[in-house]
Amino acid sequence: MAMHKQNDEPKGISPFTHIFFLVCFFSCFFIEPVSSDQQGWDGVVVTAADFQALQAFKQELIDSKGFLKSWNGWVGIKCAKGQFIVIQLPWKGLGGRITEKIGQLQALRKLSLHDDVIQGSIPRALGVLPDLRGVQLFKNRLSGSIPATLGSCPSLQTLDLSNNSLTGVVPESLANSTKLYRLNLSFNLISGSVPVSFARSSSLIFLDLQPNNLSGPIPDSWGPQNHSRLRNLDLSYNAINGSLPVSLFNLSSLVVLNLESNGLEDQIPESIQGLHNLSVLVLKRNKLSGPIPASVGNISSLTKLDLSGNKLSGEIPFSLANLKTFNSFNVSYNNLSGLVPAPLSQKFNSSSFVGNIELCGYSGSPPCPSPPPLQNLPSSPSRNRDINIENLSSAGEKGIPTPAGEIEPGGETGGKLVHFDGPMVFTADDLLCATAEIMGKSTYGTVYNATLEDGNQVAVKRLREKITKGQKEFETEVNLLGKIRHRNLLAMRAYYLGPKGEKLLVFDYMPKGSLATFLHARGPETTVDWPTRMRIAKGVTRGLMYLHTQENIIHGNLTSSNVLLDEKINAKIADFGLSRLMTAAANANVIATAGALEAMNGVDLPQWVASIVKEEWTNEVFDLELMRDASSIGDELLNTLKLGLHCVDPSPSARPEVQQVLQQLEEIRPDTPASSAPSGDDGAGVPSTSE
Ligand SMILES: *[C@@H]1O[C@H](CO)[C@@H](O)[C@H](O)[C@H]1NC(C)=O
Ligand SMILES: *[C@@H]1O[C@H](CO)[C@@H](O)[C@H](O)[C@H]1NC(C)=O
Ligand SMILES: *[C@@H]1O[C@H](CO)[C@@H](O)[C@H](O)[C@H]1NC(C)=O
Ligand SMILES: *[C@@H]1O[C@H](CO)[C@@H](O)[C@H](O)[C@H]1NC(C)=O
Ligand SMILES: *[C@@H]1O[C@H](CO)[C@@H](O)[C@H](O)[C@H]1NC(C)=O
Ligand SMILES: *[C@@H]1O[C@H](CO)[C@@H](O)[C@H](O)[C@H]1NC(C)=O
Ligand SMILES: *[C@@H]1O[C@H](CO)[C@@H](O)[C@H](O)[C@H]1NC(C)=O
Ligand SMILES: *[C@@H]1O[C@H](CO)[C@@H](O)[C@H](O)[C@H]1NC(C)=O
Ligand SMILES: *[C@@H]1O[C@H](CO)[C@@H](O)[C@H](O)[C@H]1NC(C)=O
Ligand SMILES: *[C@@H]1O[C@H](CO)[C@@H](O)[C@H](O)[C@H]1NC(C)=O
Ligand SMILES: *[C@@H]1O[C@H](CO)[C@@H](O)[C@H](O)[C@H]1NC(C)=O
Ligand SMILES: *[C@@H]1O[C@H](CO)[C@@H](O)[C@H](O)[C@H]1NC(C)=O
Repeated sequence: MAMHKQNDEPKGISPFTHIFFLVCFFSCFFIEPVSSDQQGWDGVVVTAADFQALQAFKQELIDSKGFLKSWNGWVGIKCAKGQFIVIQLPWKGLGGRITEKIGQLQALRKLSLHDDVIQGSIPRALGVLPDLRGVQLFKNRLSGSIPATLGSCPSLQTLDLSNNSLTGVVPESLANSTKLYRLNLSFNLISGSVPVSFARSSSLIFLDLQPNNLSGPIPDSWGPQNHSRLRNLDLSYNAINGSLPVSLFNLSSLVVLNLESNGLEDQIPESIQGLHNLSVLVLKRNKLSGPIPASVGNISSLTKLDLSGNKLSGEIPFSLANLKTFNSFNVSYNNLSGLVPAPLSQKFNSSSFVGNIELCGYSGSPPCPSPPPLQNLPSSPSRNRDINIENLSSAGEKGIPTPAGEIEPGGETGGKLVHFDGPMVFTADDLLCATAEIMGKSTYGTVYNATLEDGNQVAVKRLREKITKGQKEFETEVNLLGKIRHRNLLAMRAYYLGPKGEKLLVFDYMPKGSLATFLHARGPETTVDWPTRMRIAKGVTRGLMYLHTQENIIHGNLTSSNVLLDEKINAKIADFGLSRLMTAAANANVIATAGALEAMNGVDLPQWVASIVKEEWTNEVFDLELMRDASSIGDELLNTLKLGLHCVDPSPSARPEVQQVLQQLEEIRPDTPASSAPSGDDGAGVPSTSE
């Protein structure tokens, strides 16, 4: 009978006493189908136990498509050393059950019967197979519970029982398989809780328990020493409750964490940033509350964050805008409030943000609520709401007209508003009810960006009260300052004295902001060309010259932050003469503080520039974008640099007068009609400290 053509793989025939000879057609060593008339079949001899077991296995299956009718059809059976080692029959339409006798296939390494229609339960006997490495029974109709015996398979590496109708609990013992790295029990009806033992497994890499009926908490005993390998944890669509265990964030190897659609509660801990390698974090549809931890912004590998459908509150932390690799973001349907950080609202559309009633600032969002009225904003941290509506009942004190300008009664607030010349028409009430945002703070007070009822914008400086002069002296000085008009000086349009001594100065609003932001806070594509820079410099010099020569005012603190720019990029010097409104003691203090700051400052910019120039490394100090035109403007750059250095000479007496500075700038780059014509605002000026 038998086959004697030895296959080359099984090097010897098993030394069993009773040997059944079985031809194992289409074994792993034999891929080509052979016609039945060929007597020279390749084959192997297998043990009686394996032979019987395989027959029993075949008998319990329902082979409706006839795949097993002929032995020739057993494509997926492999043998080694007289034993079956692989049964691989997916997509064969096999029904029926898997026999317990499979336990006799002692050398079985792989059982793959996925995408069939097998029913019944998973044989407990699989647990006795010492070499079983892979079990793929997904997409069948298996029912009953998962045998706890599977945990005693010492070699088990992958167990995929997903997409069946399994019930019962996840056996704690599965974690006993110390080589198990892929466990997929998804799409079943498993209940009970996630076994605590899983948190102790050192082998698991993929743990997928999504859609099931799991309840109870997530185990809380994950430690990096035990779990450095877990990469993919999916517990989504269950009924898991309790809070996110902090120890979970020990899993620094985790790449995907999906806990969607459970009953998780409480806050997301800051320590979530322990998930250093995380790419996908899905916590949607739970009951998480509290703020989104800013530390999420530290998980630099994050590409997807879905927190939608929770009860999260507070603002979206700006730190999330740091995540460069972010390509999917969803915080919809929470209780978040405030402004969406601009980088996020630009990158993601409204469906990432909707369903948060108090969230604004994304495309299609309800308008952001107006900022609080000016009168409610604190002037300094120590004095909150010092002009208050409490005063509504107090009779409006009519202001006394002064030659300085037009006076408005202080309205219901009982203060006094004095207008200087200018296009703006508003009452004290208009001013106090304007919506306002803080634009900046300085030694003398806080500057607000205020929008009046009629839509006009003004800049309002609220002076720190304790350091201003008494009312009479203050008014004398402010009425002088308010009349100063020059195209390169920021015009004061009004001032307001409140009933309790509060003092507001109203200036033109400069839409382009300061020279500092114009130069330093622009995109890489925006250039500021040399003619524009020169025009600004000349403008500053002209403004300064007017102050020095016509008003006898020394600015004392000229920086790029208090040179402002109007729509046409004309320079307007701000913050001049304010020291005149302050007490002598306050000014002495300011000078002392400024001196101390200077002493503390490690790098002295003028000194640095001077040293570079001495070393003839001059080009180092110019903005690179100007160097592109070096061939045509090189001389202008150099001469302006020399002038600038002259202006900051350590010895004040060596510095040029502002008139000389203007004259030299005009020699370096004469005004072109175009640049000087319309506003006349061109002018030269290396900011000079020679004043
Ligand atoms: C589960 O199996 C069914 C039937 O084979 C199939 O239609 C369905 O897509 C599978 N579900 C998943 C998630 O694989
Ligand atoms: C297997 O796991 C269970 C539960 O985790 C444990 O009680 C048992 O001692 C383990 N068995 C072996 C053989 O390690
Ligand atoms: C688990 O099985 C499901 C359904 O068969 C599949 O969609 C999913 O990708 C598997 N998960 C893992 C980690 O293998
Ligand atoms: C889900 O589990 C709960 C107990 O946690 C049980 O009462 C319920 O019957 C289970 N549902 C299904 C479909 O198994
Ligand atoms: C790590 O595993 C050991 C045993 O395997 C266990 O005693 C220890 O508690 C585990 N550590 C943590 C943090 O879970
Ligand atoms: C979680 O749900 C179970 C019922 O499934 C309940 O007994 C338990 O109190 C819940 N735990 C928390 C923390 O809500
Ligand atoms: C694991 O997490 C817990 C809770 O955050 C922490 O106390 C513990 O130190 C962590 N273990 C290690 C080894 O980092
Ligand atoms: C994180 O991911 C990188 C790259 O995928 C990998 O090299 C590294 O080992 C991972 N770290 C941990 C703790 O798993
Ligand atoms: C993480 O994020 C927080 C909040 O954004 C920040 O304070 C902290 O310095 C960051 N870095 C580290 C390493 O914690
Ligand atoms: C965000 O989540 C909501 C609800 O879960 C969903 O309707 C919406 O399509 C999601 N948007 C994006 C961009 O993922
Ligand atoms: C000088 O100007 C800077 C920038 O505008 C400001 O921060 C600082 O408070 C001013 N110092 C004084 C003494 O006015
Ligand atoms: C001032 O407020 C207006 C209106 O809210 C706004 O458009 C503008 O950007 C603000 N300017 C600054 C510098 O904050």
